[in-house]
Amino acid sequence: MRTAATCRLGRQLLSDVDGQIVRLAGHRDSGDPVDMMPHPGLRRISELDPSRDYEEIYRLHATIEFPWDIARALEMALYRTYCVPSIGSLLHETQEFEQRAQKRYDDTSLLLGEALKFGLNSERGRAAVRRINQIHSRFSISNEDMLYVLSVFVVVPLRWLDRFGWRAVTETERRATYTYYREFGLRLGIRDIPETREELFAFCDAYESEHFAHTPANARVGTATRELFVGWFWFAPAPLVRMGVHALLDPPVLAAFGFPPAPHPVVRALETALRTRARLVSLLPARRRPSYAQDSWTVRSYPRGYEIGELGPDGSRRPGASERRVRRARGKGTPMGQ
Ligand code: HEM
Repeated sequence: MRTAATCRLGRQLLSDVDGQIVRLAGHRDSGDPVDMMPHPGLRRISELDPSRDYEEIYRLHATIEFPWDIARALEMALYRTYCVPSIGSLLHETQEFEQRAQKRYDDTSLLLGEALKFGLNSERGRAAVRRINQIHSRFSISNEDMLYVLSVFVVVPLRWLDRFGWRAVTETERRATYTYYREFGLRLGIRDIPETREELFAFCDAYESEHFAHTPANARVGTATRELFVGWFWFAPAPLVRMGVHALLDPPVLAAFGFPPAPHPVVRALETALRTRARLVSLLPARRRPSYAQDSWTVRSYPRGYEIGELGPDGSRRPGASERRVRRARGKGTPMGQ
């Protein structure tokens, strides 16, 4: 039992740094000149054009340069969207987070990961986008809420990296991040996407000031998701992990979920730990192997693999407002999930 637990912890720790570990262990390079450079990911990025090669740049940025940071920042980004009552209440109604938090997390990571790994225009990327659209088509979701969720994919990771990244993010990477998500958003049918990154940041901030509010539904979805995070750190005392999660949340998010703020020394200790981690990563040899959601230790529901069509809720719904919405959508002939 203890051995299994130790192995799991070892796997969790190693999977975050495996790209660097293989290098330290004497991994032989492919012979490709780019692969032989000290920072092949960054070097390759600098050779690309963000208006044309945004997808390749964002893939390198998110899977070679900053995979750990982007994964953590996206967790925080999606977490904060439940503070908008229209989003929090729908997610509470469907009960997916409260009943199946790990599966909900995995399905989101994998569908977004399919598009990132294979490309927005690839067969798998298009199937993933189609699946997300099918899932959403069951509900009535406003364009503004969609745009807000899209904006956090850009804003939160870039802000996280400015604080905790192991190196400064280049302008090329910033532009590519914006363009990648603009293209993603267009495929989700989102309208009125701001034309510049700065405008998208401003939209995100204004939307949060205007809409974040505490409701019992937000609090329930926020608590269910926090408990998912707590479960990942099974080896640490749960109250300490909860405090760690609270330490990463800013005051408007804490207020919307009704969580107590973490004590200042805990916030400072966590920030110091993240900056120390960044410093250590900057001293390690560059990562060469991409790290995708498909390989992450946090994604656990499909040990034997998955089909894109089986990701997302299975269609069985508990009675309630969301069920009525499903039936109404069916009546209108809206496409249903697979
Ligand atoms: C850019 C914007 C968005 C993206 C990329 C996105 C992505 C996704 C993905 C990948 C899933 C599948 C995960 C799963 O079903 O387990 C999903 C499901 C879902 N999404 Fe979104 N989403 C976006 C915006 C929104 C918004 C604004 C809402 C409004 C409340 C929303 C509500 C839902 C619901 C209700 C589900 C079904 C699962 C559940 O009940 O929790 N999404 N979304």
